[in-house]
Amino acid sequence: QELDCILRRMPKAELHIHIEGSLEPELIFRMAQKNGIKLVYPSVEALRAAYAFTDLQSFLDIYYAGAGVLQTEEDFFDMAWSYLERAKADNVIHSEIFFDPQTHTARGVAFATVINGLHRAIERGREELGLSASLILCFLRHLSEADAFATLEEALPFRDKFIGVGLDSGERGNPPEKFAAVFGRCQALGLRLVAHAGEEGPASYISDALDLLRAERIDHGVRCLEDPQLVARLASERIALTVCPLSNVKLAVFPELGSHNIGRLLAEGIVATINSDDPAYFGGYLNENFTATFAALPQLGARQAYQLARNSFEASFVAEETRKRWI
Ligand code: ADE
Ligand code: ZN
Repeated sequence: QELDCILRRMPKAELHIHIEGSLEPELIFRMAQKNGIKLVYPSVEALRAAYAFTDLQSFLDIYYAGAGVLQTEEDFFDMAWSYLERAKADNVIHSEIFFDPQTHTARGVAFATVINGLHRAIERGREELGLSASLILCFLRHLSEADAFATLEEALPFRDKFIGVGLDSGERGNPPEKFAAVFGRCQALGLRLVAHAGEEGPASYISDALDLLRAERIDHGVRCLEDPQLVARLASERIALTVCPLSNVKLAVFPELGSHNIGRLLAEGIVATINSDDPAYFGGYLNENFTATFAALPQLGARQAYQLARNSFEASFVAEETRKRWI
């Protein structure tokens, strides 16, 4: 009870949240109706009932379909604003938000529509909620590297509205090396670099994301424990992992929260953090990820709670002086 209070109240940063994954079924239905889009599900309840995933791909199919209702700048604003209000309630003081432009531009929605709507919500969040947030553009790894390059070109006129790039979508069969050239270009442009790795894919994808993509932070990364040398490297180089416990259970990366390895990761000295990934789909926002995980793992207590909060600030891309103030 006291621990729950600590977890909920402590200030924290969220570093792994896909904004399209914060789109609640109610909002999907409202936007579908407004935009004249026909959904295959007859009701909010029927849609929610379809959220029974067996692996990453089974989730992605529904997640991309849900994102299909977003049409106008207002839609992107409303989605991001809902998330920011929700994050504020969980005492998130800083958030680094992923967005998937290719899932929208492929439907004929302009890149400007996407990023301007998201950016306006972030500005308002800073003014009205006192919450700082920034955007990270994710390339979809099931698409080609040429596609990623084209998206980067479209994004460059908006360079001041995002801080970095990431890599998401189906991991198996889409290894880091597929995107080595475009990440090299992004690094040369001074963008911050992150990549999903070691969620469903093997530990070697984590090493490759570090060596071939120059990723500064690894999203998920939970399969690193399969490689003791990699664990030692992550710990000594203080390469952060953005771990998402509820996501991992919903997508069958772990059979239940009680067998999650976040306690081990922390004990190994890795800069692990807790995040929500796609909260509208996985049954909880950031504080639910914290409280459910701590309830399931007896080795986690107040010490680990503060460690995780500290890690979230250390691993963030905010300026050094700000980070020091938060830690
Ligand atoms: N896109 C949204 N959530 C994702 C996840 N957990 N892994 C890969 N791609 C994603
Ligand atoms: Zn993710």
